[in-house]
Amino acid sequence: MHHHFRPATLPALAAAIFLLATLSHAHNISRILAQHPEFSTFNHYLTLTHLAPEINGRTTITVCAVDNAAMADLLAKHPSIYTVKNILSLHVLLDYFGAKKLHQITNGTALAATMYQASGTAPGSSGFVNITDLHGGKVAFGAENNDGTLTSTFVKSIEEIPYNISVIQISKILPSAAAEAPAPAPAQQNLTSIMSKHGCKVFADTLSSFKDALSTFNDNLDGGLTVFCPLDDAFKAFLPKFKNLTASGKLSLLEFHGVPVYQSLATLKSNNGLQNTLATDGANNFDFTVQNDGEQVTLKTRLTTAKITDTLIDEQPLAIFAIDKVLQPKELFKGEAPAPAPAPEPAAADAPAPAKKGKKKKKAADAPAADGNSDAPADSPGDAADDTADDSNGAVRPDGGRYGKVVVALGLVFGLPLVL
Ligand SMILES: *[C@@H]1O[C@H](CO)[C@@H](O)[C@H](O)[C@H]1NC(C)=O
Ligand SMILES: *[C@@H]1O[C@H](CO)[C@@H](O)[C@H](O)[C@H]1NC(C)=O
Ligand SMILES: *[C@@H]1O[C@H](CO)[C@@H](O)[C@H](O)[C@H]1NC(C)=O
Ligand SMILES: *[C@@H]1O[C@H](CO)[C@@H](O)[C@H](O)[C@H]1NC(C)=O
Ligand SMILES: *[C@@H]1O[C@H](CO)[C@@H](O)[C@H](O)[C@H]1NC(C)=O
Ligand SMILES: *[C@@H]1O[C@H](CO)[C@@H](O)[C@H](O)[C@H]1NC(C)=O
Repeated sequence: MHHHFRPATLPALAAAIFLLATLSHAHNISRILAQHPEFSTFNHYLTLTHLAPEINGRTTITVCAVDNAAMADLLAKHPSIYTVKNILSLHVLLDYFGAKKLHQITNGTALAATMYQASGTAPGSSGFVNITDLHGGKVAFGAENNDGTLTSTFVKSIEEIPYNISVIQISKILPSAAAEAPAPAPAQQNLTSIMSKHGCKVFADTLSSFKDALSTFNDNLDGGLTVFCPLDDAFKAFLPKFKNLTASGKLSLLEFHGVPVYQSLATLKSNNGLQNTLATDGANNFDFTVQNDGEQVTLKTRLTTAKITDTLIDEQPLAIFAIDKVLQPKELFKGEAPAPAPAPEPAAADAPAPAKKGKKKKKAADAPAADGNSDAPADSPGDAADDTADDSNGAVRPDGGRYGKVVVALGLVFGLPLVL
């Protein structure tokens, strides 16, 4: 009875419990703001613009919220959702400012980098916010490129979780010509040309020659789209098999490489699980599994395991990633595998009819959490509250590895009874 009680499992269990405990501490901006109805519009737009998961994936930040009246002023100008995203991302400071620190700024003034700066789309210094302590205990805020006028003031602290996230109310939206400029609608993106230029020309050409498939992809551009395009070598090698498929099978195979929601690499790294695709239709699941191991994201069907090898574009609402294999759905390649398999022809005949226009959008709701579960803990524990500059360069980098570890940890917890 050697496998009776292995001391080695105890530290593992302790580690698992520790991990679960820390995970539950990750903040959730939607939940924080949901307790304050006067910020419901601001909260709603953090979700619509996909900023919420980006905020949840960071620590040492400050969210400058405005109330519903201030949001109404902004929305009265009918900005596009992309413009709203730029404006709101200017309201997320990449440093921790609790009420105390705001009133005790060294030398009375500071510049804070924002998520708008980190997006890489802010021209010049427009991604920085000037915070200045004024006479009488007032704290003023202004976008750095706004002629030095500081139009907004600190109202109150909403929630402080030192030094992870501080949520404060400021009186008005920070005016910024740069952030308010009409943001280019990514709907104008040319999918096939992006793919062709980055190693997925064979897939792009094939997609172009199937008008129904291409329009399915293009129809989803506005609402959010993630494409996994097989690299040229992989798709070339697959062409004989592709040509063997029926017309509807070919369509499904192509559509299987698109997901009707925008999923940033950060989101993919923090979400394991089933993923519906553009080919999903009723009983024909046409789904695959996303699985992460640290920084590596893999996509799995029963027949294929593909790795993401490159990011061609990752900008709400469009992400395109190169993968090293063609994803083969079980719906099309059922009988495959070791034994002399039945020809794909009959299997392909089971494929869903290609005509499913107008149904595409509903799938977005089914797809696993585009913005869910992203409040993975991020950043190193060593983050100082004053490291403004450290974060100013980059895109969002939530530590995708944690979820992988948690899965392992859960496995340990549930696996334990077997060991004991
Ligand atoms: C504060 O002002 C002094 C003197 O001008 C300067 O040397 C110092 O770098 C400033 N500190 C900060 C944090 O800006
Ligand atoms: C912030 O703006 C005020 C007013 O325009 C200016 O005096 C101050 O120098 C600015 N602070 C920084 C750090 O640029
Ligand atoms: C996209 O680019 C390709 C060339 O790569 C071109 O043939 C096609 O017409 C473009 N499509 C649109 C909608 O502009
Ligand atoms: C194509 O189908 C035929 C029979 O229909 C089969 O013999 C052949 O192996 C298939 N080719 C590929 C590449 O799957
Ligand atoms: C955050 O909170 C909101 C509202 O309570 C909830 O709908 C959402 O699922 C939460 N997100 C995560 C990742 O837990
Ligand atoms: C801050 O965030 C880290 C990482 O998500 C977490 O481990 C820690 O418990 C959080 N601290 C608080 C006070 O919630």
